[in-house]
Amino acid sequence: MVILITGGCGYIGSKLIRDLASDRKFAGSTIRVIDNMMRERYVAIMDLPPDGRFEFIEGDIRKDEDLKRAFQDVDMVVDLAGITNAPLSFERKDLTFDVNVNGGALKASVKKLVYSSTASVYGPTTGLVNEKYPCKPISPYGESKLQGENACLNASEQNGLDATVLRLGTVFGYSIGMRFDTVVDRFTYLACIGMPLTVWESAQNEKRPYLHITDAADAITFALTQPGMKGEIYNVIGENASLNRITTAIRKEVHDVRIVITPTPNLNQVSYELDGSKIERIGFRPRHTLDEGVREIVERFRAFSRVRTRKEASAIADSMPTLSEA
Ligand SMILES: NC(=O)c1ccc[n+]([C@@H]2O[C@H](COP(=O)([O-])OP(=O)(O)OC[C@H]3O[C@@H](n4cnc5c(N)ncnc54)[C@H](O)[C@@H]3O)[C@@H](O)[C@H]2O)c1
Repeated sequence: MVILITGGCGYIGSKLIRDLASDRKFAGSTIRVIDNMMRERYVAIMDLPPDGRFEFIEGDIRKDEDLKRAFQDVDMVVDLAGITNAPLSFERKDLTFDVNVNGGALKASVKKLVYSSTASVYGPTTGLVNEKYPCKPISPYGESKLQGENACLNASEQNGLDATVLRLGTVFGYSIGMRFDTVVDRFTYLACIGMPLTVWESAQNEKRPYLHITDAADAITFALTQPGMKGEIYNVIGENASLNRITTAIRKEVHDVRIVITPTPNLNQVSYELDGSKIERIGFRPRHTLDEGVREIVERFRAFSRVRTRKEASAIADSMPTLSEA
């Protein structure tokens, strides 16, 4: 079997390709990666597990000749290639749509496709949101991912493609291909190097959906193998967490974290909580916590004296009151 991972050198992809190589369900499979290396994460393809069968194509999913090579004899596809920074997508709108919507046109020819979508497709919401909630994305990133979803689901309906859409919460935790432009990972890094964490006043208690990177990779492998997910959309959420919850988790692991509260700018802020029970009902349960994800990153920055020892961290954790998120 050949499994193609587009954008396999990214944050999620670099973790997924290693997990697939050690997963007995995929034993003997070829893991083929196509990535244009726009983020220059060559570490993603270094030191790969020696028993895995890997192939790498440095190529662009928008180019026909690269796609043809990548899709040759492919059985399954995980589509991770994308322009992924939501705030920056306002400045690079054309590129975001070009890659996230038009890229990967050969998907319809495979037996199984898992499309990595995002909680950002929802836009402003109220209450706990499930997959039936109408999507009104507010960023070009969210809009492009919604169009990408629709392309996959249309191919499923019209051509019988076995496509599954996973709407992942914001991913956190350690991967060899780390990105530090999302909140948990960025705040953890800043705290480790002694920089203050700047928090908008209104954001302290607003919740957003988050997901540990191991759970993100596990949800993708679950969707590749679990029958009955064709043409369906699933939220995948570890925890809906506020910034207070995140900074508390970081404070348990790092000395003297400075938090600066600033007045909220006049932007269209969104607080939203997603319901991840649809995928849980068919057997997938996230297993890793925010605290674990923070700890894994902090451990990588142990060279800095701000990082607490394990003993200090567990004493702090024991003395902290239970969080109230009401
Ligand atoms: N990280 C998150 O918090 C998160 C949350 C929800 C959904 N997602 C989705 O998961 C996917 C992967 O996210 P990530 O965090 O690993 O992102 P990432 O930016 O780390 O990885 C994306 C990869 O795609 C590659 N790429 C970009 N344009 C390409 C092109 N034209 N051709 C080939 N490769 C190209 C990049 O080089 C990069 O390695 C994205 O589609 C993203 O929308 C991510």
